[in-house]
Amino acid sequence: MNIGIIGLGYVGLTLGIAAADNGVTVYGTEISDHIKSCLRENKAHFYEPGLNNLIRRHNGRDFFVVEEFPGDVEFDAFIITVGTPLTDEVVNNVKQPNFDYIRSALKSIKPVYNGDQMIILRSTVSVGTTRNVVMPFLSELCGRQQDDIRVGMCPERTIEGKAIYELTHLPQIISGNNDTAVDIAQRLFRQITPFVIKAGSIEEAELVKLYCNTYRDMTFAIGNAFCMAAQKFGVNGIDAILHANEGYGRSNIAYPGFVAGPCLEKDAYILINNMPDCDSKDFILAARKYNESLEDMVVEWVESRLGDGKGKRSSKSGGTGEVITVSGMAFKGQPETSDLRGSSSVYIARKLKDAGFTVNLHDFVASREEMEDLGIGEVYSELTDACRNSRLLLILNNHKKYSDVLYDKVFSRSERGFAIFDAWRACAELYYSDDVDICTLGDFNISK
Ligand SMILES: NC(=O)c1ccc[n+]([C@@H]2O[C@H](COP(=O)([O-])OP(=O)(O)OC[C@H]3O[C@@H](n4cnc5c(N)ncnc54)[C@H](O)[C@@H]3O)[C@@H](O)[C@H]2O)c1
Repeated sequence: MNIGIIGLGYVGLTLGIAAADNGVTVYGTEISDHIKSCLRENKAHFYEPGLNNLIRRHNGRDFFVVEEFPGDVEFDAFIITVGTPLTDEVVNNVKQPNFDYIRSALKSIKPVYNGDQMIILRSTVSVGTTRNVVMPFLSELCGRQQDDIRVGMCPERTIEGKAIYELTHLPQIISGNNDTAVDIAQRLFRQITPFVIKAGSIEEAELVKLYCNTYRDMTFAIGNAFCMAAQKFGVNGIDAILHANEGYGRSNIAYPGFVAGPCLEKDAYILINNMPDCDSKDFILAARKYNESLEDMVVEWVESRLGDGKGKRSSKSGGTGEVITVSGMAFKGQPETSDLRGSSSVYIARKLKDAGFTVNLHDFVASREEMEDLGIGEVYSELTDACRNSRLLLILNNHKKYSDVLYDKVFSRSERGFAIFDAWRACAELYYSDDVDICTLGDFNISK
C-alpha cells in the first residue's frame, strides 16, 4: 500500500516508520524545518527508543519526506496526524481545543486528492469532527457526495517512550463512513498489527480515544485525591495507597503524581467540550482540575518553606532570588521521554521564576536547547552542578536514574540547609540516610 502522512511529529513519524517497517510505502509532509533537517540527518527530533535505527533503515527507501505529495503515486490513504492543542480560550471553566491544524492539513492534499483515497484522521478530536468538519470539506474538495468518499477515524493510542513497540502490539481502533473505507483501514492497519478493532461508527472511534485518556486522567485523580486526604490525618499518602493495594487485587489505586504531557493535559477538555448538556461533565472536569491543582500545591509549598519575601525582593533587584533546582523537566520519567510539552515541571519552574526565585534546570533526557528555549533558568547537564548553590531540589519526574542518586556524592557539597522535594519518591537510596531533609507528594503537607 502507498500512504501519505500529513505531520511528522511524534505520532506521524512513529506511525510512518512503523508502517514502512511493515511493508507500506510512506510519503510524509511536515511544515517544521527543524523536523525536516533532523530527518535529513536520519534522526528524529525527539527521543524515542528504537526509532532512529528504523529511520536509518527506511528513510529514502520506503519512507520519503516530501514537500508535496507526488502526483504519479497511487495513494491508498492519507493519514492526518497534526496536533490538536488547547487554545488560550476558556469557556465556562473549560479550556478549548484548536482544530486549525486539521483544516490546514486537509487543504494541503488538495492537488492530489480525487475522492478515491481514504482520509484517515489519527489526531485526537471531539466527537463529530470527522463527520461535521472533515467530510464536508473533502466532499467539496473533490466534488463528490459524502457517501461517495472514504473517510475514517483511527485514533493513536501509543504512549511516548514505547510507541514503536505499541504500534505493532496494541489493538488498532478503525472506523469508516462506508464499507470501502472500513476495508481500506482494515487492510492498512492489519499490515502493521494483527489486532484490529472495528468501531461501530466514526463517532465511536473518536469517543474511544477520548475515553482511554480521560479514564487514565480520572484514575490518577483518585490516587492524587487519596494521597492528599491521607495527609490531613497525618498519614503518608503514598504509603496508604501502596498498602491499600498490596496483595489486595480489588484495589488498584493509582500512584500519586503529576498527570501531564501533550495528551493528558487536554483530552478530558476535548471530551467535556463536546458534552455541554451532559451532567457527568462536572465529574470529569473536577478530576482534571484536581490533577492540575498539584502544580500550584507544590509552588505554594516551596513558598511556604523558603518564604516568598526573599525571592520577590531579589527579583526586583535583578532576579537573583533564592536558588532552586528543578530536575525532571520532561513530562514523565518512565517510560523515559524528552518531551517537555504539557509538563507540570515546566509550569512549576516558570511559576517559581515568576515568584522571584532563580531556577536551575536539569533533566536526564530532554535536550539542553529545548530547556534553554523555555527561558526559565540556567540548564545543567549534571545534577551535582545544578544543586551546588541551591537551597532546594525539586525532583518532578520518576526517571530511573534518580534511584542511583547518592546523597554524599551529589548533594553534600551544596550550600547551606539543603532540602529535597522528591515528588514521586524516585530517589530510593536517599531514604536510607538520616541526614537528608527530604519529602514527597505523600508527606509534604504533613506538619513536622
Ligand atoms: N504524542 C503522543 O504520544 C500522542 C499519542 C496519541 C495521540 N496523540 C494525538 O495525535 C495528534 C498529534 O500529536 P503529536 O504529539 O504528534 O503532535 P506534534 O505537534 O508532535 O506533531 C504534529 C506535526 O504536524 C505538523 N503539521 C502541522 N500542520 C501541518 C501541515 N499542514 N502539513 C504538514 N505538517 C503539519 C507540525 O509541524 C508537527 O510537527 C494530537 O491530536 C495528539 O493529541 C498524540
